[in-house]
Amino acid sequence: MPKLTVEGYGTVDVPAGKRLVLAIQEDAKVDILHACGGNARCTTCRIEFIEGEPTTHTAAEVERLAARSLTGVRLACQIACDHDMTVRAISRLEGSGRPDPGSRPQDAITPEPIWV
Ligand code: FES
Repeated sequence: MPKLTVEGYGTVDVPAGKRLVLAIQEDAKVDILHACGGNARCTTCRIEFIEGEPTTHTAAEVERLAARSLTGVRLACQIACDHDMTVRAISRLEGSGRPDPGSRPQDAITPEPIWV
């Protein structure tokens, strides 16, 4: 099982291949936002990698980060936990002023991933 470390929250085992946004929320118990429901549209699931950043992206992630001129962050909804990772949760419900984190992303990465 891959190990996920969220800075300040500790380390948990995550089922291999689980969506990172869901692993952060459900396994690490961190209140990460996912306002668009995990569809690479809102960028509220943005995280910073400390270790273990995947070298591949979905085309949707690349397109959305470029559209928002975001650098140095990744979209947790577009990443699968298939190896050990250490991340910083920089977009949380607490302090956001939002009523909820967003609808639960599906178990599989959406939209259908095209890996680049
Ligand atoms: S971009 Fe909206 S949840 Fe990831």
